[in-house]
Amino acid sequence: MFERKGYELKPNPKTGRYRLISGNWKMNLNHLEAIQLVQKLYFALRDVDYAYTEISVHPPATDLRPIQLLIESDKMRFSLGAQNCYYETNGAYTGEVSAGMLAKLNVKYVIVGHSERRRIFGESDEMVAKKIQAVFSEAMTPILCVGETHDEREKGLTDEVLSRQVRIALQDLTGELASKTVIAYEPIWAIGTGNVATAEDASSGAQLIRQEITEMFGSSVASGVRVQYGGSVTPVTAPELLDAEGVDGFLVGGASLDAETFARIIRA
Ligand code: PGA
Repeated sequence: MFERKGYELKPNPKTGRYRLISGNWKMNLNHLEAIQLVQKLYFALRDVDYAYTEISVHPPATDLRPIQLLIESDKMRFSLGAQNCYYETNGAYTGEVSAGMLAKLNVKYVIVGHSERRRIFGESDEMVAKKIQAVFSEAMTPILCVGETHDEREKGLTDEVLSRQVRIALQDLTGELASKTVIAYEPIWAIGTGNVATAEDASSGAQLIRQEITEMFGSSVASGVRVQYGGSVTPVTAPELLDAEGVDGFLVGGASLDAETFARIIRA
């Protein structure tokens, strides 16, 4: 989608990986408000802002169709993303949306295993693994969210938690698919709290994630995986975090709901 208008996204020359900055709107904005936000974001950005960064927007499910039509008709350089999907293809699962339904809307990225889904809706690591399979089976890309709680961090369990979440989520994938997975390191204590992690925290999270993937699939797969940081990213904290070693972009919640603020993060 973002290749139109003769534009070509370039990888980060330092890592060879493509940066991805994603706006997770959570349960905010009806489809009319969503259209306004995407239009404002489009007008806030210049061509150069897309040169090294792919931008995805993740509206609520009811907004996906109108946003898809807007992006495609105006040839906007945004990738469409969803916040969740169910792993079965169809059937008696009241209220759920399948990966196939998302793919039909030209959704490119699907957030899987966000901590809010794990905590509020009881998603287990095993369910997350099935969702990742479902997303790949429809030729979309999962953004797998992992991260430790404040308590786990205090108890020194961060390594263990990240390893477990990554291992179970990716265990049934081939190396090729694993390398295509985007992983968002989102320390739960930093989500929506204003307690942003330091660049060192973000780096060490990214490193732990790649270590686990190296053990599972080898270092070439691990070096292909893109790792985002998420948790209270703002225009002020974005430059340092984006510079942190091993960090390839952001998953932004609250700050992605304001076009100008999100545009400033992208420009970091
Ligand atoms: P936040 O949310 O930026 O509002 O902290 C991030 C997320 O939950 O993905």
